[in-house]
Amino acid sequence: MERIFLSAPDISGRERQLVEEAFDSNYVAPAGPMISKFENDIKAYTGFENAIALTTGTAALHLCMIVSGIGKGDGVWTSSATFMGGVAPAVYMGAIPSFVDSDISSWTMDTNVLAEALETANKKNNLPKAIVSTDLYGQSCDLDAIDALCQQYDVMFFSDSAEALGAIYKGRHAGKGSKAAVLSFNGNKIISTSGGGMLLTDDKEFADRASYFSTQARQPFLHYEHTELGYNYRMSNISAAIGVGQLEMIEDKVERRRSIFNRYKSELGQFEGVDFMPEPEGQRSTNWLSCMTVDPNKTKGSSGDIIELCNQEQIEVRPMWKPMHLQPVFDNTEFFGSGLCKTLFETGLCLPSGSGMADDQQTRVIETILRVLKA
Ligand SMILES: Cc1ncc(COP(=O)(O)O)c(C=O)c1O
Repeated sequence: MERIFLSAPDISGRERQLVEEAFDSNYVAPAGPMISKFENDIKAYTGFENAIALTTGTAALHLCMIVSGIGKGDGVWTSSATFMGGVAPAVYMGAIPSFVDSDISSWTMDTNVLAEALETANKKNNLPKAIVSTDLYGQSCDLDAIDALCQQYDVMFFSDSAEALGAIYKGRHAGKGSKAAVLSFNGNKIISTSGGGMLLTDDKEFADRASYFSTQARQPFLHYEHTELGYNYRMSNISAAIGVGQLEMIEDKVERRRSIFNRYKSELGQFEGVDFMPEPEGQRSTNWLSCMTVDPNKTKGSSGDIIELCNQEQIEVRPMWKPMHLQPVFDNTEFFGSGLCKTLFETGLCLPSGSGMADDQQTRVIETILRVLKA
């Protein structure tokens, strides 16, 4: 039986041809024309003024931390419902992470909880230096609300948009309005460069510093001269060629993922106890992953039962992100909220959502889940 993956790469455009062009030009290096083209194309698509192509999304966020001077003992608050790559860069810098709960109406960072926590921290003279909010499963966080709070308390705001290329918030691209946003192009993202990331910002000085730190912090001399420590984080020209081809198809991919989500919702969402990720008004989620929750008190089987049966049937279904405040590595770390993100983890599922998934494959997924829900 052919395995159905959660989110397999979907190479359906000019990627091969563009990689061949990159080979023909002999720019088989972390420099070359495909990198500038990919950066320019992403700028045009997202509306950001500066874009820096990097090896990973994690590297992009690490550069954000470096450029903004996050250091030992600084507070950095992130969404608890996220992937480790959105948190670890702050910890690399010696910062102390704290985690913020999800909101019932969006599943992204709860801005009421955030407002309360900032007010309390302000009174204690213990404000964080930065907030990193995750755009979850293809959906933007409440950019305006978080931005307003960050301005009120003079806290830097970064958007972890790794999962949200193509997401729209009130007419603008996800992350736009934050100090900087990061994207990921790893193998399971809406577009993949086989591995890669991007730093987006409207602040030219910030972009220049990030670019400098991404190339070993080299001073402008022919010999190699360094006054600071940098990193080797630039994307390769070959990866960028794949990215250029992938980006040409982005709107098709968004449409396909949204239609996959809508089909799941219409065929599974009528069961009592089954709910799908809500999309707040004024937003366009890409539905990078289709996510649903299953209340075992109201349904005939739990999310665990669904995962187990799907696995037997060669269908990759996973729980939603395990909240960071429940990760053993972050034992005793501060958490703000009542724990909705824990409930989402305990009852939530990520369903196969790849834009290359065929209709009959989705039928197989739905029929397998129905065996549990109708048991
Ligand atoms: C929310 C989030 N943040 C950060 C990352 C890290 O991106 P990368 O895997 O490109 O380092 C990912 C994806 O893996 C992610 O989903």
